[in-house]
Amino acid sequence: MVEVAVSESELWERLGKLPRVSLATLPTPLEPLPRISQMLGVQIFIKRDDLTGLAFGGNKTRHLEFGIGQAISEGCDVIVNGAAAQSNYCRQTAAACAKLGLKCALVLRRLPEVEAIKIEPQGNLLLDYLFGADVRFVEPDEDLELAKDRVADEYRCKGHKPFVIRYPDVSAGYGYLVCLLELVEQCRRMGIKPTHIIHSSSTPTQSGFIVGAKSLGLDWKVIGISPLKREGGHQRIAELTNIVAENLGLSVKVTPEEVLFTMEFVGEGYGIPTPEGIEAMKLMAQLEGIVLDPVYTAKAFAAIIAMAKSGQLTKEHTVIFVHTGGTPALFAYQPVLVEAFGASKP
Ligand SMILES: Cc1ncc(COP(=O)(O)O)c(C=O)c1O
Repeated sequence: MVEVAVSESELWERLGKLPRVSLATLPTPLEPLPRISQMLGVQIFIKRDDLTGLAFGGNKTRHLEFGIGQAISEGCDVIVNGAAAQSNYCRQTAAACAKLGLKCALVLRRLPEVEAIKIEPQGNLLLDYLFGADVRFVEPDEDLELAKDRVADEYRCKGHKPFVIRYPDVSAGYGYLVCLLELVEQCRRMGIKPTHIIHSSSTPTQSGFIVGAKSLGLDWKVIGISPLKREGGHQRIAELTNIVAENLGLSVKVTPEEVLFTMEFVGEGYGIPTPEGIEAMKLMAQLEGIVLDPVYTAKAFAAIIAMAKSGQLTKEHTVIFVHTGGTPALFAYQPVLVEAFGASKP
């Protein structure tokens, strides 16, 4: 099939046909990072998706606009989601349900590898309770999809109509196509010509950026920085990208080889802070007054720092770093971060 570039208005029109609820404050700001740019010798801007507005913000608010939109269009009254105990997705799901008058059930698991992070009702988990979610815990090795199905069945038996959020989910692709369209407009207005979009990626968010960039024929490099070691990332991202494109009637097709994605900055594993990530957090906080989280965005920004230091990014490049949120998890990591931040007991 020949790929035909489509217009922004055409993409907006196709997105407009999907069920969607309004949850985020959009567009999120696109801001320069002047002090970090000067230090690294690369022009860097930040897309503030940590400011999507719902319950401390984050990228999942965009996903949920379409995911919950679909659920409501099917007449569902309970949303079932699940992930790690400090899940940002679950926290935003709980908040969205509260706002929309839906019941929220969350299936959470502890990460066996993060010994320092016990299941304390702290950070995201504390917020899940605040938003009134029905919180269930499962063993670290349990299949989350089956556990979500089990909880959905329970609700079904009680006469509810549950909607299970699956992973990876096309809604995220739609949400980040919206984000890309926002960026195109903001860059035009601000006179910015980006060469790279770099962000934390475990699959879905990146698919939306790729669909948008390819559909519009942009030469922006979309680089995903993985927060976890899981093989097959390129394949998964390509597959989801192609599904999102197909659902929107676009002729875009990507191969795994075309996907720019790396697991180089994960460190020991998912949820385990890296020294480079902690340095990135300090740099962003102390030069720009912006908070990164230790699980996702710190590792993504550590990648930008490493790429600038190695000469992969230079003054010829203009980078948009997408801050995908996650900041409430910071507080759950207090035992790990307190020393690194140089805090002393009062
Ligand atoms: C803060 C943050 N950034 C990035 C990601 C990765 O997003 P995605 O799974 O849509 O690729 C997540 C996913 O949980 C997240 O919570």
